[in-house]
Amino acid sequence: MEHLAGDIAHELRQPLSVIQNIAAYLRATIPARNGAVLKQLKTLEQQTAMAGEILSSMLEFARSGKPTIAPTDLHAVLKNVLSRAALSSSSSSSRLRLKRSLARRLPPVLADPVHVDRILSNLIANGVESMQIMEKRDARRILSVATEVKGRQVVVRVADTGCGISPAQARRIFEPFFTTKQAGTGLGLALCRRMAEANGGSIAFQSRPGKGTTFELRLPRA
Ligand SMILES: Nc1ncnc2c1ncn2[C@@H]1O[C@H](COP(=O)(O)OP(=O)(O)O)[C@@H](O)[C@H]1O
Ligand SMILES: [Mg+2]
Repeated sequence: MEHLAGDIAHELRQPLSVIQNIAAYLRATIPARNGAVLKQLKTLEQQTAMAGEILSSMLEFARSGKPTIAPTDLHAVLKNVLSRAALSSSSSSSRLRLKRSLARRLPPVLADPVHVDRILSNLIANGVESMQIMEKRDARRILSVATEVKGRQVVVRVADTGCGISPAQARRIFEPFFTTKQAGTGLGLALCRRMAEANGGSIAFQSRPGKGTTFELRLPRA
């Protein structure tokens, strides 16, 4: 079944890129005064971009079962992810503070570095998004990342002061395609959990609605 989903995602790539190319052609050709048509075109572009994201996640999903496990410097991966997340560049109205409390000396984890990157990127993106949707302009928006060694495992916590997760949602957040976001794919956490488990680790969370959420990733240490 998984294999089939991966194959389908792969096959859909081609027709989707044809549609996207035609949309780009139309965007360049349609005169600016054709507002109504351009509005439709914008929807078409947004929806095809979304379809592309779903296909990418499905492909990633299909591949995520077979990690290439090696001793991996988790702090190095984290640094990379944080630099890409561009936390500081957000506009002043959604200003966000990053707090780091990293273990002074962290042993390598035994995991696929690409998977660790994907997991942390997803968790951090979710944390940032949970704080962006908050109404209060001056609400405290803090993303905290912490690492520590616990026995044979390395623990990474990604915490936010965002909207939190209601008990009803909490039961479903790891389901593929479950999303509460208008432009969400609902595949991030499903992928995170699957990758964590394929690497011999686990993922869990605690949340207080209206206060914030903490996700905890555990991976075997080398
Ligand atoms: N840090 C978080 N704070 C609040 N809600 C979250 C957080 N992380 C995940 N969620 C909830 O879990 C859902 C699924 O997350 P995910 O699988 O990453 O998909 P997506 O981000 O595309 O919605 C989100 O739509 C949201 O409702
Ligand atoms: Mg997500």
